[in-house]
This record gives sequence, C-alpha cells and structure tokens, in this order.
Amino acid sequence: MSKAMRLRKPGGLDNLYLDTAEAAAPGPGEIAVRLHASSLNYHDYLVARGMIPTRDGIVPMSDGAGVVTAVGAGVTDYAVGDHVVSTFFPNWLSGSSEVAKLGVVPGDRVDGYARENVVMPGTAFTHSPKGYSHAEAATLTCAGLTAWRALAVEGNMKAGETVLVQGTGGVSIFALQFAKAAGCTVIATSSSDAKLQRLRGMGADHVINYKTNEKWGEEATRLTGGRGVDHVVEVGGVGTLTQSIHATRNGGHISLIGVLSGFQGDVPTMFMMTKQIRLVGITVGSREQQIDMIRAIEANNIKPVIDRSFPLDGLADAFRHQESGSHFGKICLEF
Ligand SMILES: NC(=O)c1ccc[n+]([C@@H]2O[C@H](COP(=O)([O-])OP(=O)(O)OC[C@H]3O[C@@H](n4cnc5c(N)ncnc54)[C@H](OP(=O)(O)O)[C@@H]3O)[C@@H](O)[C@H]2O)c1
Repeated sequence: MSKAMRLRKPGGLDNLYLDTAEAAAPGPGEIAVRLHASSLNYHDYLVARGMIPTRDGIVPMSDGAGVVTAVGAGVTDYAVGDHVVSTFFPNWLSGSSEVAKLGVVPGDRVDGYARENVVMPGTAFTHSPKGYSHAEAATLTCAGLTAWRALAVEGNMKAGETVLVQGTGGVSIFALQFAKAAGCTVIATSSSDAKLQRLRGMGADHVINYKTNEKWGEEATRLTGGRGVDHVVEVGGVGTLTQSIHATRNGGHISLIGVLSGFQGDVPTMFMMTKQIRLVGITVGSREQQIDMIRAIEANNIKPVIDRSFPLDGLADAFRHQESGSHFGKICLEF
C-alpha cells in the first residue's frame, strides 16, 4: 500500500483527503513507476472544485513524474531506474486527435497521479528530459505540451515572428520560453507590474498590463508597427478573445486554449473573417508531440519556472495558492 490523495464527491478543496492505493505488479507492456512529483493545472483545479464531474474517490492530477521501479513482459523502451513523465492522453500516441484517443485523461475520468505508486502501459509515459528534477518533468504533461503544440505544431512558428502570451500561468510561461528559443519576438501581458518585470527578465521584448490597459490588443498591434502579431496563445478565452483578434495580423493564428475569463460570450467574428485569422482550438497533445517537445527542450536547455512546491497531502493548500493568482509559472507537488 502507498499514499494517494483522493477527492470525495461532490468535490471542493475540503473534500480532498489522504488515503492509500494498491501498488500492483506490471503486466505485459506495463511499467511500475514510483511517482515523486505532479504539477497543478487549471484543469486539475476545476476537477478538485467539482466543476468537472467525476467519480467519488478519484485520485486527481493529470501530471506525474518519477522513476521506473519494474517493467512488464515485452517492455523494451524503459529500464528500472529510468526517469519518466506521464502523458495527458494515454491513448493518443500519435496522429490526429480523433475522439476515441481523447476519452481517457488521468485525474479526470480515471485515477491520476496524486499518488506514490502507479502501474500503467509504458506508452502512457515518456522519458523525462535529461537533467530535469521530477518536479520539472511533471510540469510538461499538460502546460508544457499545450504551449508547444500551440506554437510549434499548430502555429508552425518561425524565427522573426511575433508571439503574444497572456498572463504568467504555466502555459503562458512555457509559450514565452518556446517562442524565445525559436527566435521570435514576444509580447507578454500580466495583471501585475511586478510580474511584468519578471517577464522582461525572462526575455519578453514588450510587456503590457492588461488590467490598466484594457485595449492591450490594440497596444500589441502598435508595438508591431501596425502589422499585428503572428500568434496569440489564448488562455483567457472568451473574455480576452476580442482583444486577441485586434492584436492578430491579417492571416495570423490564434491558439484557443483556455477558459480563465469564462466559457461563453460575444466574439467579433466579423473581424476574424475580414482579417482571415486562423482560430485553432486545442486540447494538449499527443505522446509523439511530447517526445518532440522534450527533444527541443534538451537542445535548447529550457528549464520550467516553478513557483512553489507542496507535499502530497498539501494538495488543497496548493490549489488555494493557485486560486490566489499570485503564482508565476508552475505550482508543483513533490513527494
Ligand atoms: N486546451 C488545453 O489543452 C489546455 C491545456 C492547459 C491549460 N488550459 C487552459 O489554459 C488556461 C491557463 O492554464 P494554466 O494552467 O496556465 O493556468 P494558471 O497557471 O492557473 O494561470 C493563471 C494565470 O493566468 C493569468 N490570467 C488569469 N485571468 C486572465 C485574463 N483574463 N487574461 C489574461 N491572463 C489571465 C493570470 O496571470 P497574471 O497574474 O500574470 O495576470 C493568472 O495568474 C486555463 O483556462 C486552462 O484551463 C487548456
């Protein structure tokens, strides 16, 4: 038996509790992993708050990283002692995102990684980047891969292009790092002047306070000499989309990722049409894309920004910290 955090129905941070979970031996094609870290995403927060319906007693958290402790028959990709990180969609190995590949998400429809030990198919993990701590690796499953797919896969970003990133959460900080590594100009926004300073320190070429400048999209266009940005990493959703459309150049690309500003509202589709903007909705990415991302991370020596780590049984406090909005980058669990 090993430790696991579970969520009692109907959800809510006070309904997270420490429990135990069985640690089985791996069957054919499976690996046993001693997990040492997870990282918090807005999606995990929605599960914990009961806003994404799930079953009573589920083990939350989509991200997990640790060490392989045993391999089942037929496993050739991993050896005992390897450092590994989970994938968001265990059934989406490669190719396009057909519905059948997206049905299983750890920590949402099935038990996730807020636990010490797990047995999964080897294909539900990849090797961690060389030199990464387990906490650093655990930031990649959801936030890292989403930012990578937005820009490197759907955006096909090229050196010299301009990327706009919103706020200083996990996805946006990764997007800033990937864009700078690709030789792009970055315009970054935040509600906090202190965080804007940190963004500059990380290489953001221009920064805008989206609270004091409500027309930040128009300001972004001005900063590009009137042309507009090539890519927007849209984590705000419907409440920020109008300014994102104003910020985007004719023929530019918006990666629709987040819901931080809500789920429904008005969108000026007329401007999207006349500017011929490509709006692409995305949900994380495939295992193959995760492997590509890790290769790029190793080649460019990119390290995630970890705001703070909590112990496994501090998960509710970790979510409260996320809820406060004071974080910069990723919040992790280390155990
Ligand atoms: N579709 C997908 O595959 C996918 C994958 C990962 C995440 N997401 C979504 O992407 C969003 C971000 O996720 P995350 O894990 O990076 O969240 P997070 O780490 O909790 O980010 C929160 C930060 O976003 C910024 N923010 C909040 N409201 C904003 C607004 N109206 N405009 C601009 N920035 C705002 C704030 O930054 P400042 O404090 O600097 O203002 C806040 O600290 C969430 O909606 C999440 O559900 C989607």
